[in-house]
Amino acid sequence: MWQILCVVALCGLHSVQCVQLTPSQAVFTKPQGSTLQVNCSSKYSIEWKKTSGPNQGLPIREPTVATVNGANDNMSTLTLHNLEPTDSGNYRCMDDKDGDGVFLLQVLTVTHQEVQYEHLKDVMLEFVIEGHDNTEFTYKWKKGDLSVADIKVEGKQAYVEHENGSLEIKHPPRSFAGEYTCVVTYMEGAEARRIEIPVKYYATPKVIPFDKSKNLVQDEVLVIECRVLGYPKPKVTWYKEEKPIMEGEDNRYKFLTADTYNGEPMENAKLQLDSVDFDDGGKYICKATYLEKWPQFNSTQEILVRVKDKLAALWPFLGIVAEVVILCTIIFIYEKKRNKDAAEDEDPNQDGAAPEKKSEGVRHRGSANNPRA
Ligand SMILES: *[C@@H]1O[C@H](CO)[C@@H](O)[C@H](O)[C@H]1NC(C)=O
Ligand SMILES: *[C@@H]1O[C@H](CO)[C@@H](O)[C@H](O)[C@H]1NC(C)=O
Ligand SMILES: *[C@@H]1O[C@H](CO)[C@@H](O)[C@H](O)[C@H]1NC(C)=O
Ligand SMILES: *[C@@H]1O[C@H](CO)[C@@H](O)[C@H](O)[C@H]1NC(C)=O
Repeated sequence: MWQILCVVALCGLHSVQCVQLTPSQAVFTKPQGSTLQVNCSSKYSIEWKKTSGPNQGLPIREPTVATVNGANDNMSTLTLHNLEPTDSGNYRCMDDKDGDGVFLLQVLTVTHQEVQYEHLKDVMLEFVIEGHDNTEFTYKWKKGDLSVADIKVEGKQAYVEHENGSLEIKHPPRSFAGEYTCVVTYMEGAEARRIEIPVKYYATPKVIPFDKSKNLVQDEVLVIECRVLGYPKPKVTWYKEEKPIMEGEDNRYKFLTADTYNGEPMENAKLQLDSVDFDDGGKYICKATYLEKWPQFNSTQEILVRVKDKLAALWPFLGIVAEVVILCTIIFIYEKKRNKDAAEDEDPNQDGAAPEKKSEGVRHRGSANNPRA
């Protein structure tokens, strides 16, 4: 209050510099993409200038200044939307009586807010601060809600956080793709400030290979599970042969959600078919797509399902039984025939030839009997 009264009083004297900035900070620290707004007021006409940094001396980019002629004061609002590294630098608001107000804008920037995954290729998410003054920053990277310092692969640290804020990822598996956040903290006067900058690490969809075939017996339940990687989250669809399977088709196919997206829930990740029949055998395909970003990339895996007869296990046994039956029948018929032959051999009408092998006996008997016939 005192200050305002004082300013009003002094401004009346015409000889005193009288420009008021709101907020009245010497340094603004803003993340790229955010908005800066500063109001400048004076009794006199106002002009904004950039006095250092990129584009210095050039007119401040649009949309920028809106001047309001108030009852007592002129006020000009500087608004910079979607801040870029080139917006960093010193700004000055001055009136035509040599009054001025200055501030420094530093823009926190990552070199890439979007990174594309390449198989096992090292990645450096670099941090750059444009218009850096003496502010000390500390950086902490997170993947989702997890601090990267807590993420280990086979017991080893998977990430390197450099002091300059850069995040190094060595030989990343595809599962490392996702949403990262750099949390930047610093002091502004006596106040601790915190800025979060998101970085998207994109990866095309991929279905993790699964079994190539599966054997089922009629009436069993078919469950196929599809594990998927990629960021953003792909969409899973199922095909039988080349035909898409629709949910509720014949009310037989069920699509279930399972934690198959890097341990997180994935819709349609499981295809279930209660009580399979012969017709259900064939090639099933799981397809992962992310049409919004990459219509040309999709990943598929297929599995061949064979459905066997319920009695299939019984067939070999039945085969053996049949064989035994046939064998017994043959033996039985044969035995019967032999008994009959033997009975004929003992016929009293026969001459008392010495017992011989049966087949020969038959032949000899024929020839022997011939003369008598
Ligand atoms: C600047 O002034 C406008 C109009 O009075 C007001 O809506 C806005 O909140 C002010 N901005 C700041 C940063 O003080
Ligand atoms: C506001 O600025 C204009 C010039 O842009 C000046 O003519 C006018 O006197 C100023 N208004 C006040 C209230 O001082
Ligand atoms: C940050 O530090 C790392 C490791 O020293 C270095 O490789 C990288 O180039 C640095 N990045 C910047 C933007 O200075
Ligand atoms: C991916 O799917 C789209 C539409 O379904 C298709 O046009 C495209 O050829 C597919 N690409 C690959 C690599 O399979």
